[in-house]
Amino acid sequence: MQTSQIAITGFGRVGRAIAAMLLARRSRYRDLLGVDVRLVAVCGSRSGLFDPAGLDEARFDALEEDLSGPDFVASTGADVVIEAGPSDHRTGGPGLAYLTMALEAGRDAIAVSKGALVHSGPRLREIARGTGATLKVSGATGAALPTIDLLDYNLRGTTVLGLEGILNATTNFLLDAMMTRGVGLAEALAEAQAGGFAERDPRGDLEGWDTAYKLLILANFGLDARLTLDDVAVEGIAAITADDIATWQSEGRVPKLVGRLTREGDRFAARVGLETFTRNDPLAHVSGHDKAIRVATDTMGELVAIGGASEPTATAAAALKDLEHILTARLSRGRAG
Ligand SMILES: NC(=O)c1ccc[n+]([C@@H]2O[C@H](COP(=O)([O-])OP(=O)(O)OC[C@H]3O[C@@H](n4cnc5c(N)ncnc54)[C@H](OP(=O)(O)O)[C@@H]3O)[C@@H](O)[C@H]2O)c1
Repeated sequence: MQTSQIAITGFGRVGRAIAAMLLARRSRYRDLLGVDVRLVAVCGSRSGLFDPAGLDEARFDALEEDLSGPDFVASTGADVVIEAGPSDHRTGGPGLAYLTMALEAGRDAIAVSKGALVHSGPRLREIARGTGATLKVSGATGAALPTIDLLDYNLRGTTVLGLEGILNATTNFLLDAMMTRGVGLAEALAEAQAGGFAERDPRGDLEGWDTAYKLLILANFGLDARLTLDDVAVEGIAAITADDIATWQSEGRVPKLVGRLTREGDRFAARVGLETFTRNDPLAHVSGHDKAIRVATDTMGELVAIGGASEPTATAAAALKDLEHILTARLSRGRAG
């Protein structure tokens, strides 16, 4: 039986959810794919675990000091690196070094954090192309909502004319609360923070940056657009007033924070901003914590996907969907781990 050795970098909420789910699915990988998938290493910022025979959950609360960093992960021999550390788009964050190490060595990688992909997405793709490694990014672009996969698998061969995404569940919840329950932005935000689904510092969501990061990754990984963050015009929802809400209600329109890519010849224009939809538009019905994407193509018409859970378990499941695609592709190439 073929084996695949997995390392997880970043062992917080998502990293731990990935580890637990991966262990629970080992028999699925054996039965369905004929692959013995072993979790051989995990690490946080300063500590980690390594066992070539495979880790189990009982050891997750006893991380060992000094088992962290790209050199540590390289030394484990893992053939798939799943990166779920902190996101920093200015520097690429720790994820950039882990992903670079993995891809340069021809190991496949799955990114969950966005920072490295926003900072260096096209360069990472080039490294992967050069070494024949695969870099998958579902967790960083909507996670349980299929975005990259919709483009990569379902719409393959079409020309994408444009796409719209409601890609940030927090702002969608806030707008929904303001429109349907008459609460103000501050009150809705306090509610979301108390429920644990808005950041303590909500500016990245409210100012549209989280949507911009996802849009950029989607453009560069799904559409080969080679955009930088400077190419994305970004406006958020922080300036919305009670008068705006009243106007949209009287006009029968529903506001959403939208990331939009529009094909202009052989490039894409990218913007993030508030848009309103009539009530008969499917995007008007994306409520609460849901996200959505609508893609317009030349030959398959328009497609809309709505939903997908947003919590760490769902993000973990998206990363492991990427893992299954990697393992399946290896099998079809007849390549061992
Ligand atoms: N939460 C979600 O549902 C969700 C959805 C999509 C994407 N994401 C992204 O997934 C990533 C992880 O999210 P999370 O909620 O799991 O965050 P988290 O709970 O804060 O965990 C972050 C982890 O990264 C580790 N870390 C920090 N510096 C590191 C380094 N240099 N090397 C290795 N590990 C390092 C931290 O270790 P220490 O504990 O030692 O500091 C911690 O284990 C973030 O980038 C987030 O944006 C999350």
